Amino acid sequence: GEGPSSGLRTTPATHESAFLKACRREPVPHTPVWFMRQAGRSLPEYLKAREGIAMLDSCMMPELVTEITLQPVRRHKVDAAIYFSDIVVPLKAIGIDLDIKPGVGPVIAEPIRTRADLARLRDLTPEDVLYVTEAIGMLTAELGATPLIGFAGAPFTLASYLVEGGPSRNHERTKAMMYGDPELWAELLDRLAEITGAFLKVQIEAGASAVQLFDSWVGALAPADYRRSVMPASAKVFDAVASYGVPRIHFGVGTGELLGLMGEAGADVVGVDWRVPMDEGARRVGPGKALQGNLDPAVLFAPTEAVEAKTRDVLDAAAGLEGHIFNLGHGVMPTTDPDALTRLVEYVHQQTAV
Ligand code: CP3
Repeated sequence: GEGPSSGLRTTPATHESAFLKACRREPVPHTPVWFMRQAGRSLPEYLKAREGIAMLDSCMMPELVTEITLQPVRRHKVDAAIYFSDIVVPLKAIGIDLDIKPGVGPVIAEPIRTRADLARLRDLTPEDVLYVTEAIGMLTAELGATPLIGFAGAPFTLASYLVEGGPSRNHERTKAMMYGDPELWAELLDRLAEITGAFLKVQIEAGASAVQLFDSWVGALAPADYRRSVMPASAKVFDAVASYGVPRIHFGVGTGELLGLMGEAGADVVGVDWRVPMDEGARRVGPGKALQGNLDPAVLFAPTEAVEAKTRDVLDAAAGLEGHIFNLGHGVMPTTDPDALTRLVEYVHQQTAV
């Protein structure tokens, strides 16, 4: 129904799905499974659908987005779909000149480095992303009881791409701004929080029944810097969508030391990568939150028995948790055998069925 904890357009059947129950820390018929980057290059049907179409162009084609988003749901029987898009789509939508280069990632034509540059980060309105509303409408009609996860990049991770001008190993220019001009940095992150909050609202109002905030690269920071320079902006994003009552997932890579703070920022579910066992992750996050994770995506290149043994370890470590969503510790790698993913979903369902 349309209660405060059900989201705007989440149907009763979707509300009762294993995925949303686990997010709410309610008992589940089996541990729900989905994979970050489940839609993508590991699937031959994805490569075929994307043939001759640039990544960013594909994100603006509602029928193609619908098809690609549904592909892993059909093939793997995962418990949730994730909206096919990219974290830089809202930036493109407000007019930032950028591209996604194959094998590289997002590249920004004119990086954001001065106060004057901030003027280019205007507010995002629903009219800027009509294709998102359209695609999510089509998707929820097709998905039935399977929930759709909307997502956005978190202010720090978006800022890193904008300030560096592209992918970065060490985030040196980003940190130079953060430490050297804290006021400019705070304004930049606040602008990004506004844009990100507005983008998540569009997805929820269109029918997403959960959202994930990807702060993929925030593991580059120490806890004190995270708390001072990043957490206020991420908290603002979570606050912007709090009233909808849809579960808010917060994920980053290498964030073992930040897990408690990432929960504190306002998440209902905290993503854990493979470096921290789930029980230790739960201890660090503290009570009142579900956890998502955390099989090392590289394990999928090992023989089935090894995958199952490592999966069993994850399930055992998560056994005492109130609310576990099984996922990889980071995205599916492009050369992963899709059959290994299908087997993994089946294995987790079978091992956790009550
Ligand atoms: O299935 C899903 O998870 C939904 C689709 C999705 C994509 N990007 C599609 C995509 C999601 C959730 C993202 C988020 C994203 N994009 C993140 C956060 C998640 C993470 O992995 O940490 C980040 C950091 C980006 C930025 C980005 N976009 C990178 C690093 C890349 C890969 C570059 C490459 O070619 O290796 C992209 C491009 C991208 N986004 C692809 C896909 C399927 C690959 C490009 C293609 O298929 O042509």
